[in-house]
Amino acid sequence: MAKRTIVAMPGDGIGKVVLDETIRVLNAAGFNADYVEGDIGWEFWKSEGNPLPERTIKLLEKHKIGLFGAITSKPKDEAFEELAPELKDKNLVYSSPIVGLRQHFGLDICARPCKTYKGNPLNFIRRGQNNTVEEPMVDVVIFRQNTEGLYGGVEWSNPSQKVYETFMEHPKFAKNFGKTPKEEISVSTRIFTKKSTERILRAAFEYAKKYNYKSVTLCEKPNVIRETSGMMYKMALAMQKSDYQDIQLWNTNIDAQMMWLTKNPEDYGVIVAGNMFGDIVSDGFAGLIGGLGFACSAQFNPDSGIGVFEPTHGSAPKYADYETSIVNPIAMIESACMMLDFIEEDDIAKKIRDAVAKVIEEGKVRTYDMMKMRGKPDVVNKGAASTKQMADAVISKL
Ligand code: NAI
Ligand code: MG
Repeated sequence: MAKRTIVAMPGDGIGKVVLDETIRVLNAAGFNADYVEGDIGWEFWKSEGNPLPERTIKLLEKHKIGLFGAITSKPKDEAFEELAPELKDKNLVYSSPIVGLRQHFGLDICARPCKTYKGNPLNFIRRGQNNTVEEPMVDVVIFRQNTEGLYGGVEWSNPSQKVYETFMEHPKFAKNFGKTPKEEISVSTRIFTKKSTERILRAAFEYAKKYNYKSVTLCEKPNVIRETSGMMYKMALAMQKSDYQDIQLWNTNIDAQMMWLTKNPEDYGVIVAGNMFGDIVSDGFAGLIGGLGFACSAQFNPDSGIGVFEPTHGSAPKYADYETSIVNPIAMIESACMMLDFIEEDDIAKKIRDAVAKVIEEGKVRTYDMMKMRGKPDVVNKGAASTKQMADAVISKL
């Protein structure tokens, strides 16, 4: 394939080290690409008042594919405090650059696979009959709507009179909240559109079809959140009936799903949900397969072909300045494999995934999280692999 240019956005904290190590793995696996660095994160908020500079947007527009480490976000007051003095009178308000990227490019499809690696000491186990111990193999991919719902940003505290009066037209608002002073009310909306709901459902069913999953589970709460979850459920039923009769459609409520995933996680295949419930259920499943060191994600817009691939974890600031980095790079490496899937570099993706699987199964090289240690600078002396040693181990198995 022709040489690719990838926008590498390290961001803050451990974002840089996991991305650097991942690029080393990609190179060793024979992925033919150039990397251009995209500025993003706290440093650029502090110095420029914008954590997502226009030049980074331009780079992504041009090259389409981004690998992203992690960013640091801080509360409003702290954000203002750390702004460069000359920017303090410019009325700047911090907002998350990764949410900004999703909104700007309409990266509305988020996929988060959670698959058990054989031999991972962090795998979920449960008690079976006669006190046996079972280790169910989890193979779940969560499709999360990535731009709307509760993360759409349409919210108010002490709303304007006009907004308040509009709410008062709703009988339930008048009945349940009408006696509360306006100043004491905060509202965050949960807006679903048909178009985006259709797109995330379609992406989930198409994935199930392509990779032979027997079920798609809609994980929402249509019996209570009747309009948004209800619309999504109706659309899922219609879509399954017209286009995917070979795939079963299951319907679970988010609360019950969080319980079931610890009882019978191996029963689920593809899961699809709105923004917030997708976030919750994907963290739940990630916990069964090793947690943040293993949780990868893809977010993309199938129309424009723009995609950004990132681990689910954040910038873990407390480990950022370690002389020898101790964090697990597998979540970032796996996210890069999702990038390779997206650009149809299937062979290289498989090669890297097989190498990761071998390292984990062999069990000789394990980062501190896999050894159930507390993250401290001395874990490497106690036998845990550093970030670099883990990447080296993967490279040695390619
Ligand atoms: P975090 O994910 O950065 O770290 C939480 C804990 O998880 C760490 O202290 C560490 O014990 C463990 N951990 C995380 N990544 C790991 C890895 N690769 N290997 C081994 N252990 C790992 O979440 P936290 O502490 O809540 O947030 C830190 C900063 O990251 C905040 O500023 C937050 O806003 C930001 N954040 C950014 C995200 C993003 O860039 N998409 C997502 C989540 C948080
Ligand atoms: Mg999350």
